Amino acid sequence: MSFPIVVLISGSGSNLQALIDQSLQGKLDITISAVVSNKADAFGLERARKAGIPTHVLDHKSFGSREEFDQSLQEVIDQYQPKLVVLAGFMRILTDSFTRHYEGRMLNIHPSLLPKYKGLDTHQRAIDANDKEHGVSVHFVSAELDAGSVIVQARTQIEATDTADSLAEKIHKLEHVIYPLAVKWFSEGRLTVNNGKALLDGQPLPESGADYKEVPE
Ligand code: GAR
Repeated sequence: MSFPIVVLISGSGSNLQALIDQSLQGKLDITISAVVSNKADAFGLERARKAGIPTHVLDHKSFGSREEFDQSLQEVIDQYQPKLVVLAGFMRILTDSFTRHYEGRMLNIHPSLLPKYKGLDTHQRAIDANDKEHGVSVHFVSAELDAGSVIVQARTQIEATDTADSLAEKIHKLEHVIYPLAVKWFSEGRLTVNNGKALLDGQPLPESGADYKEVPE
């Protein structure tokens, strides 16, 4: 089996689809061992089933506490012994114990140019702030929400006519390029983290991560 990963989702799963597609096209040498969702109706589960990937649903509402949910989630993930856990639109705040367990081997994608706009409604917040540009970041997951070391960012201009929906569409296109790229780097052993700093090919990445336009494949 090539490099085993587990993908966590809560919704549409278009980032999951990008990983599935690139791996089918032979561009990404990974095995998606399982997809786990906290929502039974997440469309990403359909995508996984269609690709023959085992799926699990863990409804957070049926757990008494965040700790119990994360503990069960960890058990489901660890039965696959993944080398990387990929959060792809997984809309849950994670406990410290969970993030510590996967330290240095869990990635997230967040639709903003971190450290700007952690949390929700990032597209509308960028418009409301009259920002000229917006973007998306892939980062290592640390205990603090959306605050781990940034690996790669991609940017787009905000036009006067943009809405939160049109921006989301532009950002999604960029996500489907940079997330598989970061997963590829990690699966090839090129991407590591040391003392909270992300390194590519042994060189520290800038605070804002690699700029997608300039990075080598
Ligand atoms: C993506 O835009 C991703 O950046 C965002 O959820 C969307 C999931 O789309 N993630 C977050 O906001 C995490 N804080 P998808 O289900 O189509 O991959």
